[in-house]
Amino acid sequence: MKLGVNIDHVATLRNARGGIEPSVLDAAIVSQNAGATAITVHLREDRRHILDNDVIELKKALKININLEMAAVEEMKDFALKVRPYSCCLVPERRQELTTEGGLDVVSRKDEIGKIVSELKNAGIVISLFIDPDLEQVKAAHDIKSDYIELHTGCFSNAKDEIEEEFELGRLKAAAKYGQELGLKVNAGHGLNYKNVVRMREIEGLCELNIGHSIISRAIFVGLDAAVSEMFGLIA
Ligand code: PXP
Repeated sequence: MKLGVNIDHVATLRNARGGIEPSVLDAAIVSQNAGATAITVHLREDRRHILDNDVIELKKALKININLEMAAVEEMKDFALKVRPYSCCLVPERRQELTTEGGLDVVSRKDEIGKIVSELKNAGIVISLFIDPDLEQVKAAHDIKSDYIELHTGCFSNAKDEIEEEFELGRLKAAAKYGQELGLKVNAGHGLNYKNVVRMREIEGLCELNIGHSIISRAIFVGLDAAVSEMFGLIA
C-alpha cells in the first residue's frame, strides 16, 4: 500500500506564530525521502493551515504526487485548474469543524459535484471523492466518473470497542469491494494511527492511505523522517 502524508499540521504550527517555521516544504521533502508516495494538503476555505502559496511551492519542488484536498466549490476548482496538482480529493467542509467530519454527500449533490469532477478531469487532474463507506455514495462516485474514492475511516478509528471496530471494518471492506467491482480505485484515511493502521491491510486492494495527524504528532518525539518510515513499514 502507498502512503500519502498529510502535512497540514506542519502549517498549523507555523501559522501559530505567523512566521516561516516549521517549513511546510522541508516537511514535504523529508516525507518524500522517507517513503511517502504522495503529499496531501487540504486548502481550506478559512486557510487555517495550508496557504495558497504552499501548494504552489510544493508543486514546483516535489518529485512525488501532490494530492490537493478541497471543498467542491468554484473558488477551489479555479485554484486547482491554475496550479494543477496531480490529484484533487473533494471533501465536505464546514467552517466550524475541527477536522473533516464526514464524507462528501455525492448522492444529493451529484450534478454539482459531477460538473466539477468533469472540469478537473478534462484538465488532466486525477479525481478522488472522500466518502463514507456507504454503498450508495460509492455508486454515485462511480456514476459521476471519479477515478478514486477515499473511504472515510473516522468511524473505524473512533470505535469505542472491538465490536464497533469490527462492524466499521466490515463497512469499509464492503465499500472497497463494491467500488473495485465498479472499476474505482480505492484509498482510505482519517484518524489512522500507528496502532489501528495495520487493520487496513485486511481490506483487499487498497491503493493508498492518507495519514496526517498521527504522523506529525509522532514526529515531535522521533523526528519526521522516522515517523514517516515507521508508518510506511506498517503498511507496505
Ligand atoms: N483524508 C482526508 C480526505 C482528510 O480530510 C484528512 C484530514 O485532513 C485525512 C485523510 C487525514 O486525517 P488524519 O489527519 O486524521 O490522519
